[in-house]
Amino acid sequence: MDTAHTAHTPESAGAAAHLADQALSHLYAAALRAAAELHLADHLAAGPRSAGELARLTGADASSLRRLLRLLASREIFHEDDDGAFGLTPAAEFLRTDAAGSLHAAILLFTDESLIRSFAGLGETLRTGRPAFPAVFGSPFFEHLATDPALREVFDSGMAAFSDPVDDLVADDYPFPERGTVVDVGGGRGGLLRNVLLRHPGLSGVLFDQEPALREHLLHAVEPADRWRAEAGDFFTSVPDGGDVYILKHVLHDWSDEACVRILRSCRRGLAPRGKVLVVDAVLPPGNEPHPGKALDVAMMTLVDGRERGPAELDALFSQADLRRTRVLPTRTFASVVEAVAR
Ligand SMILES: C[S@@+](CC[C@H](N)C(=O)[O-])C[C@H]1O[C@@H](n2cnc3c(N)ncnc32)[C@H](O)[C@@H]1O
Repeated sequence: MDTAHTAHTPESAGAAAHLADQALSHLYAAALRAAAELHLADHLAAGPRSAGELARLTGADASSLRRLLRLLASREIFHEDDDGAFGLTPAAEFLRTDAAGSLHAAILLFTDESLIRSFAGLGETLRTGRPAFPAVFGSPFFEHLATDPALREVFDSGMAAFSDPVDDLVADDYPFPERGTVVDVGGGRGGLLRNVLLRHPGLSGVLFDQEPALREHLLHAVEPADRWRAEAGDFFTSVPDGGDVYILKHVLHDWSDEACVRILRSCRRGLAPRGKVLVVDAVLPPGNEPHPGKALDVAMMTLVDGRERGPAELDALFSQADLRRTRVLPTRTFASVVEAVAR
């Protein structure tokens, strides 16, 4: 038997290295989490520092920290200069806690043990077609959040941070009416509603979510305060009545088709004449094109019984809720606005 090892050309060795590198992705995520926990970017806000200085400031082991920084610098998060000092890159700026649009809280959410353990259950999800989270934690994701205030805080602050760019650009890009009431259903801390109300002084708004999500809402930035209210409730039962615009941002992607129809029916029942329902989620491109929604879709598969949907899949849900799609508006983010009205 010929045992000569001839499997690799330079090209195939590159492909094999790429594959092996993908399998270490969780290590890069862990490195990012460590950087966030040590607040490295905050310590670099005033300029580059050596690993030794950073170690003194953070209480970390200098040699280990230097190796962590070297790994992250190889991925354009931090940059080592010729003197061996590490500085911020454009990506690392978003690791600062005080940066506008900081992703610090989102990094802590995406690398939280609860998500990592669910992602590790992907094999189980593939076998059963059901999310791994309830098998690992004993109850569905949003029920579990109600029993774990610390995770609820990580989730709400992480979602608000992750949502920030989408909240900005959707508020800019969608032609909201000048008058009427906007209801942000499952609106979390209300970053999108805040931005819409700030840009359209003739609008009033209702932020609707589970009570814990509302505790640190962001609507106080909107004046006068009688233009908005925050209301706790269950969107499977009902949503505040009489909205001219109902927003469902990153909400339908958390749920099964059957559950989505129930949420859409709640909005349909509340809808004012000529009102609109806006579904804001990733609309996945066909084929091999990279898109952040493709990772979110698999995350939804393991965490909740949800998925990212295309316009045709949404149409099937709209029609069961007596709604019809009027348009899909891409925004300058990974999310699109899918608009529907009463049929
Ligand atoms: C993925 S988060 C999206 C938050 C926000 N719209 C955003 O884009 O950042 C989903 C939201 O739905 C809320 N939610 C889950 N179940 C709910 C229910 N039965 N009634 C009302 N809100 C609910 C959660 O509390 C959470 O804030």
